Amino acid sequence: MNKKIIIAIDGYSSCGKSTLAKQLAKELHYIYADSGAMYRAITLYFLRNEIHHTNLNKVREALKDIHLEFVFDVDAGKSVLYMNDENIELPIRDMIISEKVSEVAAIKEVREFAVAQQQRMGNNKGIVMDGRDIGTTVFPHAELKIFMTADIAVRVERRFKELFAVNPAITIEEVKQNLEMRDYIDSNREISPLRKAEDAVVLNNSDLTMAQQLKIALQWAREKIDLV
Ligand code: DC
Repeated sequence: MNKKIIIAIDGYSSCGKSTLAKQLAKELHYIYADSGAMYRAITLYFLRNEIHHTNLNKVREALKDIHLEFVFDVDAGKSVLYMNDENIELPIRDMIISEKVSEVAAIKEVREFAVAQQQRMGNNKGIVMDGRDIGTTVFPHAELKIFMTADIAVRVERRFKELFAVNPAITIEEVKQNLEMRDYIDSNREISPLRKAEDAVVLNNSDLTMAQQLKIALQWAREKIDLV
């Protein structure tokens, strides 16, 4: 029998949540959903259409025109996010989006829109979703909740390497400021702030290799799957 659970992974920016989530999904043959990509997509739409996040009437109207869909790309071997039939994986990773996304993700209407879609994706279980409020708001009954952390210096270094590969003009200081700003806004917003769910297990991966963290998380997942 193919028993399925929901795995919720939350934590600070650039802790390696999506890396772990993708690997877990692959090992377990589950769906992987990157909830942050959805907030990034909405931010991209607002920037392109000059919708200011404080203009709530325009925000509500705009949300009606946004259709988001994760499509499995066989060649890339991973899910890719489409917005209104456009593959937006590349533009949503831009620094301009990283600078604005936390403000957009703090808007009540935006969160309601994204959370409703995320919950639908979990209807059949067998899903690993990463984000900031997955274990607290999106799937409060998830069988396994992982809260990831890593030292800020480690996170800055990892993120810098990723961004430098596509933009050699980026500085360590810029990356550090962006991570600290996002962590602050994400943790202090009124609606669904970033919090460890009471029943989440903490995974600090500052000194772990990817293989080591996967092994730990897989064991946790298999223990929960056995209980289903
Ligand atoms: O995981 P990420 O860095 O791509 O997420 C981008 C932003 O989206 C992050 O700064 C906070 C927001 N976010 C959120 O508020 N809730 C989620 N479930 C996921 C992301």
